[in-house]
Amino acid sequence: MKIVVMGSGAIGCLYGGLLSIANPGSVTLVGRKPIIDAIQTHGLTIRGAMGDHDIPINATEDPSTIEEADLVLITTKTYDTLRAAQSIKHLVEKGAYVMPVQNGIGTETMVADVLNTTRVLRATTCMGALMQPPGVVTATGRGITEIGTKYSENMEMVSKVADLLQEAGFIVRASDNIDGVIWTKTIVNCGINPVGALTDLTNGEIHSNMALRQLVIHLIEETAAVAEALGVELTTDDPVRYALGTAKATSENINSMLQDVRNRKRTEIDSITGAVIQIGKELRIETPASEAVYSLVKAIESKYLTDEDLSDEEVQIAVDELVKSINQH
Ligand code: PAF
Repeated sequence: MKIVVMGSGAIGCLYGGLLSIANPGSVTLVGRKPIIDAIQTHGLTIRGAMGDHDIPINATEDPSTIEEADLVLITTKTYDTLRAAQSIKHLVEKGAYVMPVQNGIGTETMVADVLNTTRVLRATTCMGALMQPPGVVTATGRGITEIGTKYSENMEMVSKVADLLQEAGFIVRASDNIDGVIWTKTIVNCGINPVGALTDLTNGEIHSNMALRQLVIHLIEETAAVAEALGVELTTDDPVRYALGTAKATSENINSMLQDVRNRKRTEIDSITGAVIQIGKELRIETPASEAVYSLVKAIESKYLTDEDLSDEEVQIAVDELVKSINQH
């Protein structure tokens, strides 16, 4: 299977690199200049929880030079999703499937709309990964990758991709309840990520910090209440236990939002906590703790972001469509 990975951050390189070891020559990474230059010169290096590997891999800044693909993984930050999707339109027109591997709500719907296709899968990942320096990735935790689709005709592709990822060394589960998977993961992200970003603590430190526990539980419960009002069937009966358990299981991780703050980059707070607040408002579910951490993360970002950093399009959540699509499943 020919695979393109849009986004050469730590997660994109981890998935692209390990898929490329399992099927040499099958993967092309697409990303920004400093990382692509480093990979073209020295190859990609992976260290840590997924083993130590030095991987020669195709890498380019320009997706228009890629002629064909069976599958495109989108591993960019959520606010870059639209741009990434538009730049691989030619591959989708020739039949490629697209699979966002991202945090947050709604990117799979956005990709399907902008590319006018139903050949869309979606994955969530609990893998922890850091990139430092460019081209060198450390896997800090081996968490589950869950895959599904909103379109039942794609289920065969879902199991093929799940097999490929398993062969590449990932822990994978194919699910026929992708909304449940996305919302269960979003509960984890809403509970852990802003708290890490605000306190500079790792997932394990958040888990064991009694002063933070009640805040984390409020965030989890508010997100679970919004999911319930939307009619989503979560993949756990006990969201608090599940989210705290994930924090413990990924205790070495510096969560992605904290990494963004440390690197003075725009965070994904809008498509994680912001999306939950927005949907909660439509459904008349109060989310005061989420609103408080949302404002605080935005305040931290505002200290270093420029207008140019904020120019990317935000994931637009059409709440009515989201509710309709969830109720159809
Ligand atoms: O965003 C992240 O960092 C991850 O989704 C998770 C599971 C919270 C682990 O750090």
